[in-house]
Amino acid sequence: MRVAIYPGTFDPITYGHIDIAERAVTLFDKIVITIAVNSSKKPLFSIDERKKMIMESVSYLSNIEVDAFEGLLMDYVKTKKAAAVIRGLRAISDFEYELQMALMNRKLAEDVVTVFLMPNVNYTYLNSTIVKEVASFGGDISGLVPPGVERRLREKFPKAIHSGIKKY
Ligand code: COA
Repeated sequence: MRVAIYPGTFDPITYGHIDIAERAVTLFDKIVITIAVNSSKKPLFSIDERKKMIMESVSYLSNIEVDAFEGLLMDYVKTKKAAAVIRGLRAISDFEYELQMALMNRKLAEDVVTVFLMPNVNYTYLNSTIVKEVASFGGDISGLVPPGVERRLREKFPKAIHSGIKKY
């Protein structure tokens, strides 16, 4: 059983993450999408909300587990007896940070490989912050996140109405 861990903040999950998960399930027997809890980040969604959104969004894929942890990723990987970590590479700008993490993780656990997957080009500009920002101004986020995530974002920003700009 070849298990891979797909870690991230997932605040919230987007179609870009889902695209990576779809590619990863073809390579491994099981993918664990896990929320890495980082106390220095101030997420919009709670761990439970993020877990629910991930579960709903990938329910059509078999062999996926959804989880959350706090601590070193490589310690978590060992508890899951995983062989690999999945990371998405959207653009050259991701590369330096990802290389640094992959090499540090290799130092911590030499037998665990990091597998980089490229999302569909349509999602290369996406990240969770940009989606939250557009939602906070009432902008159109359909096509960027699944309907359940879109609904929850609207609930987080109930007063967001797309009413154009204010000039000063
Ligand atoms: N589509 C859309 N957006 C994507 C994406 C994709 N395919 N891949 C990444 N992103 C976005 C995320 O939405 C996120 O956006 P945000 O910053 O606006 O929230 C951003 O890219 C960062 O990606 P994410 O996957 O959430 O990474 P991260 O930098 O928050 O976390 C961990 C990386 C969790 C893997 C890392 O911090 C970790 O391992 N933590 C555990 C502690 C540890 O072991 N540290 C030592 C590591 S060497």
